[in-house]
Amino acid sequence: MHTLSVKPDIKPQKATTIHVGSGAIEQISSLFDSSRYSSLFIVADKNVQVHLKKLLKALPKEVVAVVLPIGAQPKDLKGIQKIWTAMHKAGCDRQSLVINLGGGSIGDRGGFAASTYMRGVDFLNIPTTLLSQVDASVGGKTGFDFDGIKNLIGAFSQPMGVLVDPQLLDTLPSREFISGFGEIIKHGLIWDKDHFKKATAKAPQKFSQAELTDIIIQSIMIKAEIVQGDETETGMRKLLNYGHTIGHAIESLSLETKSPLLHGEAISIGMAAEAIIANKQGLISAVEKRKIEKALVRAGLPTTAPGFKVSDILKKMQSDKKNSHGELNFSLPDGIGRAVYDQKVPKAVVSEALKAVTKKSR
Ligand SMILES: NC(=O)c1ccc[n+]([C@@H]2O[C@H](COP(=O)([O-])OP(=O)(O)OC[C@H]3O[C@@H](n4cnc5c(N)ncnc54)[C@H](O)[C@@H]3O)[C@@H](O)[C@H]2O)c1
Ligand SMILES: [Zn+2]
Repeated sequence: MHTLSVKPDIKPQKATTIHVGSGAIEQISSLFDSSRYSSLFIVADKNVQVHLKKLLKALPKEVVAVVLPIGAQPKDLKGIQKIWTAMHKAGCDRQSLVINLGGGSIGDRGGFAASTYMRGVDFLNIPTTLLSQVDASVGGKTGFDFDGIKNLIGAFSQPMGVLVDPQLLDTLPSREFISGFGEIIKHGLIWDKDHFKKATAKAPQKFSQAELTDIIIQSIMIKAEIVQGDETETGMRKLLNYGHTIGHAIESLSLETKSPLLHGEAISIGMAAEAIIANKQGLISAVEKRKIEKALVRAGLPTTAPGFKVSDILKKMQSDKKNSHGELNFSLPDGIGRAVYDQKVPKAVVSEALKAVTKKSR
């Protein structure tokens, strides 16, 4: 097994140990010492029962684990309440450890519930979607959607550890798998040209297990490196928001429809739209803009959102926490593998980009 250990040493909080390896879930007891915890509490997604069984088997026998199967959607306060109640009923105390087994929907809620229960208990993430393996489970953002706004309520709280087992992806639906490439491609675009090249060299399903594990490790390293320098997003961490200013607005709107977009799909559209903005702002060439769009299409990700209204998207964007003082704020590529943050863009330019991605055919 190929296991990697990354210690981002995120300040002022504790270091997070990340283990990546095929079959890592079976070795959890040797990777993380759970003996110092009074009890273990598992928050598991109902669709990962098969992995939950493996986890329960691998955990030390004397530990009582409470299973709470909660569905992935919606990521709302009710789910958090369910977790708090179950933790209380199970007698969790300040020395309990919460283990989140699921995608970002579980990690965001389980992490928030853990970081607020009795003013905060430790939690460990075992991400089961590609998106959460490369992104959501690392970096300490926890929270939930509120009043129709994505992640409106939340807290920065670092997990004590993350266990990434690419084998858990074997059961993941292919649409979800491809959605994860949205964040992987973003990591390459904002930080590492070689990673972008590697991750877009072929269609996601064509990568071997070993190649995929390498891609996952590299994405985690990029995320950890960026977060390490700016845990609470006052500077560099904002780079990770590329594609998200527009992507989150489209994602929120899509959640109100019968065919909601997945997070990676929405930010793919966001990245395509924001690449248009970057080009209009003179940050990237037309060739680079097309390269970005082509790479997303090749991965099987959407780059347009026909049917969405520009005015609706703009309205959603105004209420985004990334947009301070009524201005539209973006993180934009200024080349392939590099990006800049805090880019104020005139509304007219944003509207033009939105028009381009929402028109029926391009
Ligand atoms: N905290 C962060 O930094 C961060 C970053 C990115 C995204 N997010 C959040 O993460 C959420 C999206 O998370 P996600 O994309 O990981 O998906 P998800 O948690 O919503 O799960 C997607 C679907 O896959 C199923 N599933 C999960 N793992 C599976 C497996 N191994 N086999 C079969 N089915 C499985 C789930 O039941 C669900 O139906 C969004 O709410 C987004 O806001 C958070
Ligand atoms: Zn994201």
